[in-house]
Amino acid sequence: MHDLFRRSPHAVCFVACLFLTAMFAQAQRGASIRFDDASRTFRIDGGDVSYALGINNRNELQPIYWGARLGASDGFPQPHEVHEVASFDLTTTVTPQEFPGWGSVFYVEPALKITFPDGNRDLVLQYASHHIDGNTLTVRLKDIERDVFVDLRYEMDAATGVLGRSATIENQTKEPLVVERAAAATWTLPHGTDYTLDYLTGRWGGEFQLQQEKIVPGARVLESRRGSTGHQNNPWFAVERAHTGEQDAGEVWFGALAWSGSWRITAEMDQRQTIRITGGYNPFDFDYKLNPGEKLNTPVFYGGYSPDGIGGASRILERFELTRILPQRPKPKPRPVLYNSWEATEFRVDEAGQTALAEKAAAIGVERFVMDDGWFGQRKDDHAGLGDWYVNQQKFPHGLKPLIDRVHALGMDFGLWVEPEMVNPDSDLYRKHPDWVLNFTGRPRTEGRNQLVLNLARPDVRDYVFGFLDKLVTENQIAFLKWDYNRNWSEPGWPAVAPDEQKQVYVKYIQNLYGILRELRSKHPGLEIESCSGGGGRVDLGIMGLTDEFWTSDNTDPFDRLTIQDGFSYAYTPGVMMAWVTDSPNFMNRRVTSLEYRFLSSMQGSFGVGANLNNWQDADFATAKRLISEYKQIRETVQHGSLYRLISPRNGSEYSATQSVSPDRSQAAVFAFLHSSQFGYDYPRIYLRGLDPKAQYKVRWISEKPAAKLPETASGEYWMNVGIDLELKGDFQAAALRLDRVQ
Ligand code: DGJ
Repeated sequence: MHDLFRRSPHAVCFVACLFLTAMFAQAQRGASIRFDDASRTFRIDGGDVSYALGINNRNELQPIYWGARLGASDGFPQPHEVHEVASFDLTTTVTPQEFPGWGSVFYVEPALKITFPDGNRDLVLQYASHHIDGNTLTVRLKDIERDVFVDLRYEMDAATGVLGRSATIENQTKEPLVVERAAAATWTLPHGTDYTLDYLTGRWGGEFQLQQEKIVPGARVLESRRGSTGHQNNPWFAVERAHTGEQDAGEVWFGALAWSGSWRITAEMDQRQTIRITGGYNPFDFDYKLNPGEKLNTPVFYGGYSPDGIGGASRILERFELTRILPQRPKPKPRPVLYNSWEATEFRVDEAGQTALAEKAAAIGVERFVMDDGWFGQRKDDHAGLGDWYVNQQKFPHGLKPLIDRVHALGMDFGLWVEPEMVNPDSDLYRKHPDWVLNFTGRPRTEGRNQLVLNLARPDVRDYVFGFLDKLVTENQIAFLKWDYNRNWSEPGWPAVAPDEQKQVYVKYIQNLYGILRELRSKHPGLEIESCSGGGGRVDLGIMGLTDEFWTSDNTDPFDRLTIQDGFSYAYTPGVMMAWVTDSPNFMNRRVTSLEYRFLSSMQGSFGVGANLNNWQDADFATAKRLISEYKQIRETVQHGSLYRLISPRNGSEYSATQSVSPDRSQAAVFAFLHSSQFGYDYPRIYLRGLDPKAQYKVRWISEKPAAKLPETASGEYWMNVGIDLELKGDFQAAALRLDRVQ
């Protein structure tokens, strides 16, 4: 470049013109899908991403490219099959396919496996036709001999470059067939040995723990066999190339499966060092009979690419969730500040007690009052009542109306806890319909938390659940439902249907769950819903499309929460991450922390209070009132802005810090935490990110005392390059500040 500049002024002009053209092209960037007849290749563009696939000389659909957006005129040669390596690795084994059927000579994870009634299990899919409609490409595949069709759907998001992939399998033969495995997609990355896989593991009270490991030959399986998403693995992955630990640099590919039932994502490196990531229905205990003319749709597997590290990948996915997945897309309303009664009263709810809490909550600026478990049936503890969704007369002699009216008079809206998919054996519903639960005839029914799982795949159960929820919301002024789900499946039988259809429960249960949520929302358009499953046991992009927020974890210890929230933010926007301030010492670890520390930990997400306000002193109310007012001034930035993970709390870090920047870069909110000072060391300097370098930003402390000596106003360049030295010392200390662009 320097040589070019020296050589001639024309060259300078040429470079400048190229630059301007590139800038113009950048501004013009939307989505496009093109098919090139000559090379038989498809090119899909969106955001800063290009994705290409083609039809090879064997008529198989083959992946070509997934990564940074290419020049507008760039094309690809027709893909060709990979030559055999040896007689053990024939060409059909080693040639990557977009959606491989299990057949011919194939050993890695197939996307589709079918057994036909004559015992044939060979499925070889080839290109049949395609259709382009705006941002959507559908490629039709067909078995080489039988009338089994697969429609692969690709939908590109113009803004983020996130590609949604799914498949529809159709039986056009004259006999039923059995689908034994059905993935939504296989993603392929170029061969290489410098990839790191990121994924999320956990358990109840300890969700969203980030794992990072080098991808080596073989397969890493992420899955749930539990009937729902699960706390143990979350259906998200990222692959970093040449991982250095730097958050905001390097190439990253990522994906998230939109499914709330049993699922599986397999990340494997094959013998040629090609990386394939296949995800969809969990094949464990799975089959799905398709009669002639029937179809099976897979969930959508979303995938994206970022050149800006894992931090950039999260920001792309989070923007996509806000603008394309959440029910209030493309611009969700800010989440209201919420109060929840669970940790204060547990099952001991009644009209007087809830009213007293509501009055105190309103006084500190709460906008939504949510009554949790305990208000219905014969519910005194977790032994009885689930399934009987009538208001408990002893606790609420006049129904819910007096409480709801009082909540409204206090200026808040009202939310209610439900657990629609469960039943206690000690309930009128179970006594009347013992056949409504998942079970195998004549076998034990294992209880968890004294409850059984209703089989939502049954049409009568589906109608019952929709019916009582619809009635509840119609008869009461309920703005919000906290939809809980407190155990996983056991004995997942469905005796009411033929034995060869029983395993369809894995698909039909979730389809009915989604159907109920969809119908409820369309009949009650203002209704908002939280997805909760004993904390973060059902967090995924499938249910996110039908709910407004997630209960992140039952673990409300503000220090543990830093790690849980950090992990959550890799895959999900803080705008849906509910975080409550509760009492100290916290029930989980008996850890004692200040009220301000607890507030600052929770203010990094969608904020709520779950403490027993009856035990608070005047000073606590004053702190809460002040910090809730501060939160309201930054909540759009926290909930809808871009998150930068400045210092990770993982791996026993003494420190952690996050920064959120509003989409227009006019505001930033910074939160910093210290676990325990050691050896007198100072807090590491924090360098801010994502600000407008030329703009001036004014500081305002959110935490009570300034925790650093800072200029009142400085440029974005200053905050990003000079940074901030916080004066935090001691145990469980925290500080927060905000920067506002000066006009
Ligand atoms: C589990 C939830 O995660 C809690 O917040 C609470 O709602 C309880 N269930 C109530 O049973």
